[in-house]
Amino acid sequence: MQLTNKIIVITGGTTGIGFATAKLAIDQGARVVVTGRDPRTLAAARSELGGKADVIAADSTRLDDLDRLFAEVRTRHGRIDLLFVNAGGGAFRPIEEADEAHYDQIMDLNAKSAFFTIQKALPLLGRGSSVVLNASIVASKGFPGTAVYSLAKAAVRQIARSFGAELVTRGIRVNAISPGPIDTPIFDKVGLGDGRDGFVAQMEASNPMKRIGRPEEIARAVLFFGSDDASFITGVDLPIDGGVSSF
Ligand SMILES: NC(=O)c1ccc[n+]([C@@H]2O[C@H](COP(=O)([O-])OP(=O)(O)OC[C@H]3O[C@@H](n4cnc5c(N)ncnc54)[C@H](OP(=O)(O)O)[C@@H]3O)[C@@H](O)[C@H]2O)c1
Repeated sequence: MQLTNKIIVITGGTTGIGFATAKLAIDQGARVVVTGRDPRTLAAARSELGGKADVIAADSTRLDDLDRLFAEVRTRHGRIDLLFVNAGGGAFRPIEEADEAHYDQIMDLNAKSAFFTIQKALPLLGRGSSVVLNASIVASKGFPGTAVYSLAKAAVRQIARSFGAELVTRGIRVNAISPGPIDTPIFDKVGLGDGRDGFVAQMEASNPMKRIGRPEEIARAVLFFGSDDASFITGVDLPIDGGVSSF
């Protein structure tokens, strides 16, 4: 992939999949902007990326933060070639325990943030640019305890179709990826508590490849979609899951 001088904006790029994508993009010659919220992970990313990326504090659920983010990107880079809409996450709860606050928080973090991130970035996305959304295999398969997260990711997956259809005449491609379980800090954040290691072991055992994925395995697909090699691909959703959603 040739990404020299491409401008790549990655929301939620301070850890996990977003961070791995930032590192690979830098290696491929891109100019990278990553965002996050937590001052500690922002500082760690800044130090690990060693000045090779702009690391900007911006909460993707806050529209004023998105306005400020894209104003900064405009000033520093003038355009976006690849927007990786990656910020998101979840908390797993059985149906009875998923109250209104939980519902709103997970929908805002994944679906609302994705919608407005792209809307606000549009003035910087020109002909030949592209958007990749991070959905999940939970968007198309039922798993107990993940109803709200699954709804939110189904909305994310739909954004690739709806925005893709609307933006195709402007020369902007919009695709989604749907990772299976990937080894990132997300498993410490979804409320598994002491069940974390058992959950991961179960994910490994039930995967046809008998392992979970690595963030770099997602990064390569994201950068492919963002590269000129994917020039005729829009509106798709690519599972990257060791086959677990298929067999
Ligand atoms: N790992 C998996 O198994 C898996 C599978 C399918 C899909 N995904 C999706 O992949 C994406 C990345 O997750 P990950 O696994 O790499 O987990 P992660 O390591 O927890 O990364 C999440 C990233 O998003 C940032 N973030 C969270 N909320 C944000 C907000 N409101 N505004 C801006 N940034 C925010 C985090 O920064 P802070 O530290 O500042 O919060 C962090 O940089 C998520 O959308 C997730 O749903 C993950």
